[in-house]
Amino acid sequence: MRTPIIAGNWKLNKTVSEAVDLTSELAKLVDNITDVELVVAPVFTALSNVYNVINTSNIQLAAQDLYWEDSGAFTGEVSAPMLKDVGCDYVIIGHSERRQYFGETNETVNQKVKAALSHDLKPIICVGELLKEREAGKTEAVIDDHVKGGIVDLTESEMESCVIAYEPVWAIGTGKTATPDQAQEVHSFIRDILTNCYSENLSSQIRIQYGGSVKPENAAELMSQQDVDGALVGGASLDAQSFAEIVIQSR
Ligand code: 13P
Repeated sequence: MRTPIIAGNWKLNKTVSEAVDLTSELAKLVDNITDVELVVAPVFTALSNVYNVINTSNIQLAAQDLYWEDSGAFTGEVSAPMLKDVGCDYVIIGHSERRQYFGETNETVNQKVKAALSHDLKPIICVGELLKEREAGKTEAVIDDHVKGGIVDLTESEMESCVIAYEPVWAIGTGKTATPDQAQEVHSFIRDILTNCYSENLSSQIRIQYGGSVKPENAAELMSQQDVDGALVGGASLDAQSFAEIVIQSR
């Protein structure tokens, strides 16, 4: 039995005080939820203050990215031990926006995943095809490449700490959600990849989130699919009420 995991990726939004307000409101709305893992991913500058709000709550903290070296002459970067230091449990890695705008590749994703794991941070590894790739019938090839490329050399026990987020790029921020069938099809394909790379036992334990225009109105149907174990929510996570509603709908 996999515990669903709903994470809010706030992307490049919210000052520290706005992030604290959103978190405080959310914490009140979801304080009775014990059967869903809840995660918020604010910008780096708000991590510490958000942690102070959720410290004793049922909400966990994620960063939106990290660098693979622990420290050194890498201007502008933030490392795994630094994220641990401010209270992060999770870190999002390989989001399509990082792949599209910041040159993220499977190789850098893999280095970041290994760095996160070596500091006891749980990676949320994002994979997903572009519209033109879907239309060209390349969805499975792209997903296979992203999943296998991100998890190179991970042991079975390291893999157990990972979450995979399937985010079709054409559904991100567009209002176009994958249908529950489309999501299920890719999630099941990802589980097959994990079975082939590791074992049936391992693949049955890994949570696979869906992301891309998840909102209160479509969350229940998406989450009812057999291999959809939660959501990575962008826009709708910036409003406490709608994020809480998605959490309630997913149970
Ligand atoms: P939206 O929910 O805004 O489509 O964003 C999805 C996403 O990219 C989450 O990581």
